[in-house]
Amino acid sequence: MEIGRNHGHDARSDDAYRPFANREWRNSIQRRIEIPLLVRALELPASKRMLEIGCGRGVGLSTVAGLCRPTSLAGVDFDPTLLAISHERLSARAIDADLVYGDVQALPFPDETFDVVIDFGTCYHVAEPARRRRGRAGARAGRDVCA
Ligand SMILES: C[S@@+](CC[C@H](N)C(=O)[O-])C[C@H]1O[C@@H](n2cnc3c(N)ncnc32)[C@H](O)[C@@H]1O
Repeated sequence: MEIGRNHGHDARSDDAYRPFANREWRNSIQRRIEIPLLVRALELPASKRMLEIGCGRGVGLSTVAGLCRPTSLAGVDFDPTLLAISHERLSARAIDADLVYGDVQALPFPDETFDVVIDFGTCYHVAEPARRRRGRAGARAGRDVCA
């Protein structure tokens, strides 16, 4: 698991975002109900290279890891505190993931690194061009899913 890779700029340049408080009941609803329903409704494929943009505390990552069994799993977020929580959550569950510090508007991955790019509640925080760039990070021939 890799954490805190900084690609030479302040990833958190847009200070408009304020994280939600960490509410275990909300995490639990996401983990047990919302994300499983989305994975099923969107028919997210198993055994693919997956990226979650705005992975936050890792609730989504840990859930899709179990449901989709990706061949590789990565998360990107511009909040190092949330990335550290994500790291703890995934480590506690022995889930291997590459956690990367970065801005979704300048994704630190080459094109087509991923087959599936997921987003559970992040894209509406960022400007429209970011949504297009997100898709380029691997979803040209794959899937780009927002919820
Ligand atoms: C609603 S939370 C997503 C929570 C996450 N799905 C989870 O399971 O914990 C949105 C996340 O997007 C991140 N975020 C918002 N704008 C971002 C940006 N421009 N670049 C990177 N991360 C961003 C926030 O730091 C936050 O962790």
